[in-house]
Amino acid sequence: MVVKRYAHIIGTGSYVPEKILTNFDLEQMVDTSDEWITTRTGIKRRHIASKEVCSSDLSIAASRKAIAAAGIKASDIDLILLGTVTPDFPVPSTACIVQDKLGAVNAGVMDIVAACSGFVYGLSLAKAMVEASQYNNVLVIGVETLSKITNWEDRNTCVLFGDAAGAAIVHASEKPGGILGTYLKSDGSLAHLLSITAGGTRVPIDASNVNNGDRYLKMAGPEVYKNAVRTMTEAAFEVLKRTNLSSADIDLMISHQANIRIIESTARKINVPPEKVYINIQEYGNTSAASIPLALDEAIRTGRVKSGDIVLLVAFGGGLTWGSAIVEL
Ligand code: UT7
Repeated sequence: MVVKRYAHIIGTGSYVPEKILTNFDLEQMVDTSDEWITTRTGIKRRHIASKEVCSSDLSIAASRKAIAAAGIKASDIDLILLGTVTPDFPVPSTACIVQDKLGAVNAGVMDIVAACSGFVYGLSLAKAMVEASQYNNVLVIGVETLSKITNWEDRNTCVLFGDAAGAAIVHASEKPGGILGTYLKSDGSLAHLLSITAGGTRVPIDASNVNNGDRYLKMAGPEVYKNAVRTMTEAAFEVLKRTNLSSADIDLMISHQANIRIIESTARKINVPPEKVYINIQEYGNTSAASIPLALDEAIRTGRVKSGDIVLLVAFGGGLTWGSAIVEL
């Protein structure tokens, strides 16, 4: 008889660099104000990595905490899935660097490039791999050092982003529950809304473009905003349908933290009341792939959620990509 396997999150961890950049600091750098940033985005401060600290470093710190919380050893991990758009190098993958430094000697690894949806994409893959009996302990990481691809002279973007990592151990169990369902989607026709146009093989960085801003992240803010609400609403309803649950069953909604107005508007559209919506954007800004695992780890460690609670994760990002997951903790 084939025993059904379920994919459970058994430990989480997160890490942010020490240095904090406040809205008041930004007032000294570009033509902006604390009032504008707070009312338009909900952000008050963000953490910024120092020059020598890269995504692998943040990932390792977050992963060590997740491994300890899960009560396993690094050598028990058989797969590492790492979502990022700020890898240490073009080659090798950041997941390879993390694998080595963690001592995860039995793990296969890969990076996932799905921008802010990277962690939810990783969680969806982890669930599938675990349920298909291939893997027993999957380390899923969402990490970003967006400060390194930010144009610090562009007020449209530099006030928004922060650096962070979050991690979760997805474990195979015969106990029902865990990651109940996921949903992934994309629309590459809208890629131009959020992109870095130089630095790949299509437009290599050379003397002609090194200083023109093309190697930094550019975003068409208002268009991205509209698509964020539309796609996260769709993703939330789709995963509720796939899991036969309703909004009333959700104990906590953790959405990608890009803008407090996007989060609140999405929650309203899917009928999740404010007290069941997790918001920490004021502390960290938009940390892309790290934002959901960072919030999930905080919610677990502060007791905002407990074992048995139903958590809705919903993400949206460049690509465009979007996705969702419902997890019974
Ligand atoms: O994580 C990936 C997904 N990312 C997102 O989901 C982000 C989605 N977009 C947003 O969150 C919002 O569109 C922003 C926060 C980026 C911008 O807010 P907005 O309310 O859409 O403002 P806007 O871009 O329409 O700009 C309104 C005004 C403009 O001035 P004028 O043209 O009306 O005179 C901007 O130049 O605000 C100006 N502005 C600023 N003013 C002070 C833009 N950035 C700033 C700034 N400080 N930092």
